[in-house]
Amino acid sequence: MAVRKFNYEHDGVHYYRFSIYRLGNNVQTVYTFIVDDLLIDTAQKYSRENILKVAKDKHISKIALTHHHEDHTGNVAFLMKELNVEAYGHPTVVKILSKGYKMSPLAKLMNGTVEKAIVKPLLSTDILQTANYTLQPIYTPGHSEDHYCYYEKNKGWLFSGDLYVADKIKYFATYESLFTQIDSLKKLTALDFDILFCSHNPKVKDGKKHLQNKLQFFEDFAGEVTQYYQQGHNARQIFALMGMKENYFNKYITLGNFSAENMVHSVIKDLKKK
Ligand SMILES: [Fe+2]
Repeated sequence: MAVRKFNYEHDGVHYYRFSIYRLGNNVQTVYTFIVDDLLIDTAQKYSRENILKVAKDKHISKIALTHHHEDHTGNVAFLMKELNVEAYGHPTVVKILSKGYKMSPLAKLMNGTVEKAIVKPLLSTDILQTANYTLQPIYTPGHSEDHYCYYEKNKGWLFSGDLYVADKIKYFATYESLFTQIDSLKKLTALDFDILFCSHNPKVKDGKKHLQNKLQFFEDFAGEVTQYYQQGHNARQIFALMGMKENYFNKYITLGNFSAENMVHSVIKDLKKK
């Protein structure tokens, strides 16, 4: 296994790409962001030495988390201890990290484990203040129930965690809700910003347009599934009717946790609740 780090800077925001390679293939990439002395997310455990060096070089004095997933929190406990700093996140991330959470064998293999951490709760009415910037947490569930984006209104920056990732996506995890993500995306597209500091795919230009593209894609997708479902088709049939393709390697290696069909299931699950 090899871990590679790349660093970037845009308009005063320093950001770092941490990629894990196995057998020459990039199997996981995540970005962390630094605004003054604030670190947003902490990368995978396997990037520990690199993130520590970055955090020390940049004199990090506090950490904000977008959500609890292992590629974002893999070093939070470690950095809090090494740097003697506090970390902040949604009250649910606080709860999850205080108890620790069960990871799949594949997630452990890809990213390493996540140690328990005592993180401080941040309410959506709170703000994160640094020397030059003010970040507002925006509650944006759907990818995970504890998901915050961080918005710097004056600069037009949105640190969007895992809510964007791409204009169109092909897979969903079993725990994700497509309709809830639509609500969160609507909340975000109502904000004024241009730069999308996405944790897997940052867009330093036309960030809002990319987020609007994602919203449109989800609305179209949900609309199509709803129509077929109301005509009496089941998930399997809808999947075929929509011409969707499964990546069976991904599906089976994750024991069904990640699949294209999960996107259809998510819509139907929420339709049944309505
Ligand atoms: Fe995530």
